[in-house]
Amino acid sequence: MSASQRVLITGAQGQLGQALAASVPEGIEAILCGRQQLDLADADACREAVLQLRPDWVLNGGAYTAVDNAESEPDLAMAVNAGAPAAFAQALSETGGRLLQVSTDFVFNGTQGSPYRPEQPVAPLGVYGATKAEGERRARQALPSDRCCVLRTSWVYGPVGRNFCLTMLRLHQRKAAAQEPLQVVADQIGCPTATHSLAAACWSTIHHGVGGTLHWSDAGAASWYDFAVAIGELGVEHGLLQQSADVQPIGTKDYPTPAQRPSYSLLETRSSSAELGLQPIHWQKSLIQTLETIKKAQNN
Ligand SMILES: NC(=O)c1ccc[n+]([C@@H]2O[C@H](COP(=O)([O-])OP(=O)(O)OC[C@H]3O[C@@H](n4cnc5c(N)ncnc54)[C@H](OP(=O)(O)O)[C@@H]3O)[C@@H](O)[C@H]2O)c1
Repeated sequence: MSASQRVLITGAQGQLGQALAASVPEGIEAILCGRQQLDLADADACREAVLQLRPDWVLNGGAYTAVDNAESEPDLAMAVNAGAPAAFAQALSETGGRLLQVSTDFVFNGTQGSPYRPEQPVAPLGVYGATKAEGERRARQALPSDRCCVLRTSWVYGPVGRNFCLTMLRLHQRKAAAQEPLQVVADQIGCPTATHSLAAACWSTIHHGVGGTLHWSDAGAASWYDFAVAIGELGVEHGLLQQSADVQPIGTKDYPTPAQRPSYSLLETRSSSAELGLQPIHWQKSLIQTLETIKKAQNN
């Protein structure tokens, strides 16, 4: 890595943003931008930020991530998820900087039934996936591939923020106390990815100056049901829950949501793992690390 790199990080208050802020490597000057500092729906402001701050990298971790709400707010989702990366990329093409655009497994429709490779065509099912796919396209259009990295990931959760793991910990507690079952969708398959491992992949992308399209997730596969069961069992083991609820598998059809989700969205990570020089660890190991972090925070 060159002497010191300035990295403008968007979405600094989000779950990835907080993991990035907690793991800034030596030799990186991180400029943390939350919603107060920069409105990602304002393309002119995004452009100005790059022209003024002249970062070596923009790590665009901010996004409109409310998958269901995006169905009724498509313009705002498009402005944030496609307008912002387009504006960053265009400004970076003038300043000579690079873009790391974080993207999602929801750009795929999930019908293929085997892990998606980075070079495969996208076919999003919902507005969120479509706006993220458009963000990828516009970023690539404005920058040469060696200065634009699209890093797709899946099912992100961590010790802070809004995510499935923290929601399930709360629901296990409540349902177990009420002696009610916890029903969770069992026919959507993907891979949970902890924010600490996603942050490490982002820093490795910058460290190695990787361009093109990368896929990164923790290792293995799970349904939301499997993930919920593991959160309950490991939550008890690690002292976060007194008891876990009885988790019952249900079908997607039994839990209707405004946005359609891919039924299978595993990402093939082998080639990206080699490019990043990182080996993904199994999602259950990452889950244990995350639960330990939550426990430590509770004890402090
Ligand atoms: N979460 C997942 O399961 C998942 C899966 C695959 C890929 N990803 C991608 O991973 C990246 C990080 O996601 P995450 O899970 O860390 O999401 P997150 O916790 O929802 O964080 C996103 C951040 O973006 C901010 N943001 C939204 N609209 C904004 C705006 N107009 N101006 C400024 N900031 C705005 C949010 O601010 P507020 O909190 O104030 O709204 C939030 O801090 C995103 O690119 C996402 O698309 C996420």
